Amino acid sequence: MLRIDKYLTDCGIGTRSEVKKYIKAKQITVNGEIVAKPEQKIDENVDEVCFKGQPITYEKYVYYLFHKPAGCVTAKQDNVHKTVMEYFPDDIRAKDIAPVGRLDLDTEGLLLFTNDGPLTHHLLSPTHHIPKTYYAILDKEVPETAVELFKSGVDIGDDKLTLPAELIILPMSVNDAGDKMYSAELTIHEGRFHQVKRMFEAVGCTVTYLKRISMGTLTLGELQKGEYRKLTEEEVNTLQK
Ligand code: URA
Repeated sequence: MLRIDKYLTDCGIGTRSEVKKYIKAKQITVNGEIVAKPEQKIDENVDEVCFKGQPITYEKYVYYLFHKPAGCVTAKQDNVHKTVMEYFPDDIRAKDIAPVGRLDLDTEGLLLFTNDGPLTHHLLSPTHHIPKTYYAILDKEVPETAVELFKSGVDIGDDKLTLPAELIILPMSVNDAGDKMYSAELTIHEGRFHQVKRMFEAVGCTVTYLKRISMGTLTLGELQKGEYRKLTEEEVNTLQK
């Protein structure tokens, strides 16, 4: 059993105060009866709830993939910068979604959002080791020795070496201005503070651009910066394994 106002916010109908307004305006019915107060209890598995005459389906947990642009912070609130939450409309935010892990202010790329606390906990737990792949542009050529070093663990100033990580040094290219461009892909299996930047610093390179391109089997695909999409059922099932 669940309070009707909680149920309606969980379904993304609106915020708590918006939902209260809908109830006051007699726009919510349960099994055909107008709901009189927000405290009314319903059985979400049995009762038919309608909003403006349309049946509502209950989704306890939601999962979104977001392409984070640079310049926004991975936080629910911030006094200076735009937050990642501001890219989601009110009805989705009303479901109490939060980012799974974080990307730096200047990092772009794949960020997962959900209100599934147990899954978030599972994905962030240090024992889970979900692989995360980053594309990095560096200020100078990455030494070949970094491949072996990253594979065996590198000292980035923490108590422990980093877990084995896979580094692919990409061929040097030249940008439109004629400057040499050094880049690499790095897959890590943990999520320490500024980890990728610190790993490259450990081999004498500074990251000038960073983008997370995958997390487990999830990739950005066609998703553009600032866009989000719902995960498919199959993607959610894979994450839960
Ligand atoms: N590692 C970093 O250094 N920054 C990020 O945003 C993510 C991983």
